[in-house]
Amino acid sequence: MPSRSVTFTGIQFENPFLLSSAPPTESENNILRAFDAGWGGVVTKTIGLHPVVNVVGAKAKFMRTSADDSYVSMKKRPGAALHSSWNWELISDKAIDWWIPRIQRIKAAHPTKVLIASIMAGSGNDKELRNWQLLAQAVQENGADGIECNFSCPHMDRKDMGSNIGKDEGLCSVVTEAVKEVATIPVWTKLTPATRDMVVEAAACFRGGADAMVSSNTFPSLPIIDPETLEFEINVDGFVSSGGLGGPAILPMALANMAKMTQAFPDKAFSGIGGVSDFAQALSYFLLGAGTVQVCTSAMLDSAIGPHVIQRLNAGLDAFLERNADKGWKSVEDFRGIRRDRVVLQSQIRRPAGEEYEGGYEHVEGYAAPDRADVAS
Ligand SMILES: Cc1cc2nc3c(=O)[nH]c(=O)nc-3n(C[C@H](O)[C@H](O)[C@H](O)COP(=O)(O)O)c2cc1C
Repeated sequence: MPSRSVTFTGIQFENPFLLSSAPPTESENNILRAFDAGWGGVVTKTIGLHPVVNVVGAKAKFMRTSADDSYVSMKKRPGAALHSSWNWELISDKAIDWWIPRIQRIKAAHPTKVLIASIMAGSGNDKELRNWQLLAQAVQENGADGIECNFSCPHMDRKDMGSNIGKDEGLCSVVTEAVKEVATIPVWTKLTPATRDMVVEAAACFRGGADAMVSSNTFPSLPIIDPETLEFEINVDGFVSSGGLGGPAILPMALANMAKMTQAFPDKAFSGIGGVSDFAQALSYFLLGAGTVQVCTSAMLDSAIGPHVIQRLNAGLDAFLERNADKGWKSVEDFRGIRRDRVVLQSQIRRPAGEEYEGGYEHVEGYAAPDRADVAS
């Protein structure tokens, strides 16, 4: 019998689809609704030790574009299609003490659904590392099935927090190790795309003992400047800071990062995020080697927790397994990663017959072997 269920980092999921850490998972009510709607798991909005204060006004908006002019804007226009989300929202404005009884109640109501707690602290000194451990212990003692360390929030001012950890392989390793020291449940680390080569930070997290890599958080970005008013489409008193881009626009970039990491670590676990609203996009992540997929932007636009999105994802997976039954595929595990090795160097892509390509280097005359590792022989 075909089955939607997956085991990921030792945790059993009834389906491989999770709501990612974001507004859809910022409250008990949302998470309970999400489980009722059919999500296999949720990652809570990132929890810290202390409450945070967000900017005045909108924390997130959606950008749309139209077939007529390809203009990308937050302004609502008839017929425009979703391009992306843009946000500068910080982590949960409720601290750990608020979350503890809620985690307990959610797990009591849905013992078979998976609740991953996203956590974040600083990393500048031993006291801060201890804070990661306090958060990890608090969530695991109160019922969380796993921990996701947020090394990826793109708009933290502190140099030792959020994506500033995810851009520093030393901090990635040290923080993961600190959390693993106290964790009795799986530890995932969520990485930022705002780094030169995510494989470096993924390696550091794995060295620290991480059980899975989660990618991607939003991409650093600015809103568009309105050509009439010359103001950023989202601003406070005319000012804006770098925020994060999510939704359809980031899918190809997030896939590229996923492919790099799954190729570098084919035996490790990966959870894919970025631009998923339907099974077709989730499938790309699975085919590149991810074992679960997470969703934010499309769920935000669908009754806040994505009841139709999860229906489409589940129905899409069922239909895909049915269509491929003759191949013997009964679950995600049977086709996971089968397109991972199709991503190769440009020099390995076929050229027109008779044409030679040497990776952009000059042709070498005679028998001298080119001293270049990157040119396929
Ligand atoms: C408004 C908003 C708030 C977010 N807050 C968090 C957060 O607290 N922690 C986190 O790890 N990711 C956060 N994210 C990132 C999402 O979890 C997700 O990684 C990103 O939006 C890409 O997925 P998508 O293309 O499905 O939106 C947030 C995203 C948005 C749009």
